[in-house]
Amino acid sequence: MIHDEFIPQVYAEQVENGSFTWVSPSNIALVKYWGKKQDQIPENPSISFTLDNCKTTTKLSFTKNEREEDFSFEVFLDGVKKDDFKPKIATFFKRVEVYLPFLKAYHFKIETSNTFPHSSGIASSASGMSALALCLLSIEKKLCFEMSEEDFLRKASFIARLGSGSACRSLEGNLVVWGKHDRIDGSSNLFGIQYPYEVHQNFQNYQDTILLVDKGEKQVSSTVGHNLMHGHPFSSERFKQANNNLSQLISILKEGRLDEFIELVESEALTLHAMMMTSLPYFILMKPNTLEIINKIWGFRKKTGSKVCFTLDAGANVHVLYPEQEASVVLEFIKNELVVYCQNGQYICDVVGLGAKQI
Ligand code: DP6
Repeated sequence: MIHDEFIPQVYAEQVENGSFTWVSPSNIALVKYWGKKQDQIPENPSISFTLDNCKTTTKLSFTKNEREEDFSFEVFLDGVKKDDFKPKIATFFKRVEVYLPFLKAYHFKIETSNTFPHSSGIASSASGMSALALCLLSIEKKLCFEMSEEDFLRKASFIARLGSGSACRSLEGNLVVWGKHDRIDGSSNLFGIQYPYEVHQNFQNYQDTILLVDKGEKQVSSTVGHNLMHGHPFSSERFKQANNNLSQLISILKEGRLDEFIELVESEALTLHAMMMTSLPYFILMKPNTLEIINKIWGFRKKTGSKVCFTLDAGANVHVLYPEQEASVVLEFIKNELVVYCQNGQYICDVVGLGAKQI
């Protein structure tokens, strides 16, 4: 389906060449997106914390493309040419061409790098696709006579979604909702919006320490996993549950109710993996050390009354979430008791952040 509101009017300006650079962060979902319809429309709304340290920097340079018949681009990761990234970007260009009709008019050089190790098992699609979408929108903004900041961000998120669903939640901070939800004004299936309601002090500067349990390639990609939600025996209940959880979260966030936050977030993570285990074909992305860490967190919480909790994305790594106030105590616990379960002892300290920046 084509969304006319994102198709530009005739461009007023002409631009021969130039370059734009954006830094865009990763995000971690509290209520998960798992299952999508055609054209990257989510089956349920999701909400995520925008991160701060895990980010992608992308420089997009463009020059006039003499032969305007096809897309013309090259991709570099950390200065090294990456032809294996090209098919994914070509698919993305094809999907968004109707909304960015200048794509064939230029040759692009895409130079990208991540702050986290490439093979860390941390998905770079959210930060990478959002950074690329923002660079493309910067070109469009130059071609247009005028474009408001709001329209710019909305369309960039719309375009990022067409690259990777969760990428549309990476442009702004601190909490972003994607997917239509009856109780969240302005929410849309087409782009992410900043969470519009009050958030309690308890959630300010929330900490996320990412424990790198398994840095290998995932056996099952997110795209395949999403598709397995079609015809899944529990899918309609799951989509209802996600909607309910987001409703619950509104008052939890407003009143700072940490115990309920923990319960909801951990249940979302385990439900996500339960959906994978009950798909056909079924699969398991957690590793033995993922479970060791979860049990240690539960034990520590019971013993100390800490408000530390975990969430997972589509992999074996564990995101350890905790209030800023507990930062030093929990970090001590992580170093003493959890790091042994990380591959090569690796972990990344992150915190909720403000979103993407142009540099
Ligand atoms: C488990 O956004 O990576 O991290 O739209 O196919 O690119 P595609 O999927 P992707 O899926 C992310 C799934 C998740 C949950 C979430 O971030 O909400």
